[in-house]
Amino acid sequence: MAEQRPISIVTCTAPVNIAVIKYWGKRDNDLILPINSSLSVTLHQDQLKTTTTAATSRDFTKDRLWLNGEEVDVGHPRLQACLQEVRRLARKRRGGSSEDGSPLNLSYKVHVATQNNFPTAAGLASSAAGYACLVSTLARLYGVEGELSEVARRGSGSACRSMLGGFVEWRRGQRPDGKDSLAQQVAPETHWPELRVLVLVVSGEKKQVASTVGMQTSVDTSPLLKHRAEVVVPERLELMMRHIRERDFEGFGQLTMKDSNQFHATCLDTFPPIFYLNDLSRHIIALVHRFNAHHGSTKVAYTFDAGPNAVIFTLADTVAEFVEVVRHSFPTATNGDQFVRGLPVGSAVLPEELLAAVVTEPVPGAVRYILHTKPGPGPQFVDDPSQHLLGADGLPR
Ligand code: DP6
Repeated sequence: MAEQRPISIVTCTAPVNIAVIKYWGKRDNDLILPINSSLSVTLHQDQLKTTTTAATSRDFTKDRLWLNGEEVDVGHPRLQACLQEVRRLARKRRGGSSEDGSPLNLSYKVHVATQNNFPTAAGLASSAAGYACLVSTLARLYGVEGELSEVARRGSGSACRSMLGGFVEWRRGQRPDGKDSLAQQVAPETHWPELRVLVLVVSGEKKQVASTVGMQTSVDTSPLLKHRAEVVVPERLELMMRHIRERDFEGFGQLTMKDSNQFHATCLDTFPPIFYLNDLSRHIIALVHRFNAHHGSTKVAYTFDAGPNAVIFTLADTVAEFVEVVRHSFPTATNGDQFVRGLPVGSAVLPEELLAAVVTEPVPGAVRYILHTKPGPGPQFVDDPSQHLLGADGLPR
């Protein structure tokens, strides 16, 4: 039996992010350059994360990739763009010289295994975490440091924002080569300790139009999107940053809802129109507005991406009450324990007037479960070798 030659192996994790000022539309499809800046909150990896292991060895005969245990084609152009960019940066870093003494030969093939700690079927945005994780892991493997959001952006636009924790702006940039289209942290995850996120994972139904395709049709046909990118977003971005800086939930929540609504309005303005919101989304929207109206202030705020799950922002002191409202609004037949996942949620007894005013037309079973989470840090390096997704032979274990 041939002797096993050493492999270099690295594991990292990366987070999901949810935009409060949405990215929708590219001015360059290949480099993934957006028509407007966007802003997001990075979610905590204790609840939602991607883990990726990358290994390289002289013995590997081709680049290979396993997604949640299944081998997939590495030929995808966006995957290739990320791989080539990291290798290019590594080469540049070594200045093309051979005397850097690095054990890692850049011509060696790479094996990558990646896995989510949440069900892919739940329809939670996984490409942002996936590409952020891939780029972080490859960069570490090849000893590349510094600005990497530009590389993650080549995998998926929103992935560049998952390269940082807390509150993150993806600056549109001006240059045709995209060198200034980068993610930048607005505030760290510790900035707003009371902020909480509830992901309402809804039943059934996969998204009909992929965001990449959908946003291209919007760019081509929607005059509202053009106005949004040129006029509305620049103003909103400034305002949103102020609300975050001042931890002003009233302002933050209202603007988050308005921007989600305008994104979906541009989808309706697209020709032929795209519908990501459905009856259940509209039901949740109405519920949130009734809840806020009952309290006389913005206590919870919704936002929806290119899929039916609702993401709710709120503050810690409102979580238990709102979760109870969701339980009443979408009663489940199954074991109630599993309905709330993630961070613990306290118990709340709903006053009669609140129930009467807010829970008007329950829809049994429509929400599968709630995931309770909060803002979190950017990609993390995993030290513990037992966490590697690839074994010493470079294959998934
Ligand atoms: C609605 O980043 O998935 O979630 O750049 O084509 O990969 P590509 O698109 P993607 O689009 C995300 C759109 C969104 C809004 C947002 O996250 O800002």
